[in-house]
Amino acid sequence: MKLAVIGTGYVGLVSGVCFSDLGNEVVCVDKMSNKIEMLNRGEVPIYEPGLKELIKKNKDVGRLHFTTDLLGAVQQADIVFIAVGTPSLPDGQADLSYIEQAAEEIGKSLNGFKIIVTKSTVPVGTNEKIQEKIAMQSLFPFEIASVPEFLREGTAVQDTLLPDRIIIGTSSEMARKRLIELHKPLTDNIVVTDVRSAEMIKYASNAFLATKISFINEIANICEKVGADVDQVAFGMGQDKRIGSSFLKAGIGYGGSCFPKDTQALIQIAGQMDYDFKLLKSVVEVNRDQRFNVIKKLESILNHLQGKTIAVWGLAFKPETDDVRDAPAIEIISSLLERGAKVKAYDPIATDNFTRHFNMDGVEYCDKAHEAASDADALCILTEWKEFKDISPAIIESWLKRPNLIDGRNIYSEAELAGTELNYYSVGR
Ligand code: UGA
Repeated sequence: MKLAVIGTGYVGLVSGVCFSDLGNEVVCVDKMSNKIEMLNRGEVPIYEPGLKELIKKNKDVGRLHFTTDLLGAVQQADIVFIAVGTPSLPDGQADLSYIEQAAEEIGKSLNGFKIIVTKSTVPVGTNEKIQEKIAMQSLFPFEIASVPEFLREGTAVQDTLLPDRIIIGTSSEMARKRLIELHKPLTDNIVVTDVRSAEMIKYASNAFLATKISFINEIANICEKVGADVDQVAFGMGQDKRIGSSFLKAGIGYGGSCFPKDTQALIQIAGQMDYDFKLLKSVVEVNRDQRFNVIKKLESILNHLQGKTIAVWGLAFKPETDDVRDAPAIEIISSLLERGAKVKAYDPIATDNFTRHFNMDGVEYCDKAHEAASDADALCILTEWKEFKDISPAIIESWLKRPNLIDGRNIYSEAELAGTELNYYSVGR
C-alpha cells in the first residue's frame, strides 16, 4: 500500500519505517527540514536500537522516503497517518495545535479518496474534529480512523513489529477492511472499536500502567517500614495472572514523554466532563513524591547536602534511550543544587540531550561513570543502564570518598553487596 506519515517523532518515524519494512511504499513528512535532511543522509535524530539499520535497508530498496512536501506525500498515498506531537499545555490539557494544522494541510492536499488515520494520542472526540477540519478544506471523499500506538521507547521497533494488539477505531467498513489488511502481517490480535473508544483505550492503557507503577512504589515505601522486600512482593503478586508481573518494578517513579503527559490529560478530560478522577490524581502525586525519596535518603545519611559532592548515574528517563523528557533526574538534580550540593553526572548517551534542554549551573558532566563517582560523598543511580549493573558495588566503593550508594532502581542484589562496607539504600528493600 502507499502510505504517508505526517510527523517523524518516535511514533511517526518508527511506524513509517516498520510499515516500509513490511513492503509498503512509505513517505515520511516533517516540517523540520534539518530532520528530513538528516534522515535523507541516513542519520537518525533519535536513539532507538535497530532503527538506523531498518531505515538504511528500506531506503536502499526505494520503499522509504523522507520529505518536507506534505502535499506531494498525501497525494501519492492511499492511507495518511497523523503522528504529530500532542504536548501538554500548562494546565495539563493536550495541545492539539499540531493536529489541527496537520488536518488542515491534509484537507488542502486531498486529490482523491484517502483513509486518514490518527496515531497521535488525542482526547476523546478529536478525530471527529479532524474529520470536520478536513471536510472544510476539501470536497474529495475520505474516511477517518483512530489507530493508537503502544510502542515503548528503547524497544520501539520490536514493539511495532510484534505488538500485543492493534486497535482500529472506525465507523467505516472500507477503512476497517483496509486497515486490517495493512496490520495483518503484524498480529492476528486486531481489535475493532468505535473511534471514541479507540481514543480512550490509549489514555486508559497508559493511565493503568502508571497506576501499577505508583501502586508498587507505595507498596515499596511500606515494605521499607515493615521490613519486607518489594522485589519479592512484586514477583509473588505477578504470579497471579489477573495481576501480571510487568510494570511492577519499584523505583523512583515514571518519567518520559507519555505517562506524565497522558495522565494529566486524562485528568483534564474527566474534569471537563465534571468527573473528578481521584485515583489518577493520586497516581500522579505519588509519582512526584517518589522522586524526592532519593533526597530524603541522602539527607538522612549525610545530615545536610550543603557543600557535599553527589554523583548521579543516569539522566535518561529509562535505559536504551537518550530521551530526558520528564526524567526523574531533572527534579532530583535541581533539588540537590538547591540544597547546595555539587553534582557530578554521567549517562551513557543522554548527556547531550540533557545539557541541550536544561541549564543546570553547578553540574559537572562526566564522560565516564568512574569520573562522576570518584571522590563523591554519595552515588545515586537513577537509570538502570546495563553499563551500571556491570560495575560491581566493590568497585564503586573504591571510587567513592564516602561509601554511600543510593540505588534508585534496585539494580543490585544483596549477594552483590556482600564483602563491601557500603551504606546501601535501595527502594522497598
Ligand atoms: C509508554 C508505554 O509503555 C507505551 O505502551 C506507550 O506507547 C508509550 O508510553 C506512549 O504513550 O507513547 P515509554 O514511555 O516509552 O512507553 O516507556 P515505559 O517503558 O512504559 O516506561 C515509562 C516509565 O515508567 C519509565 O520512566 C520507567 O522507568 C518507568 N517504569 C516502568 C517503572 O518505574 N517501573 C516499571 O515497572 C515500568
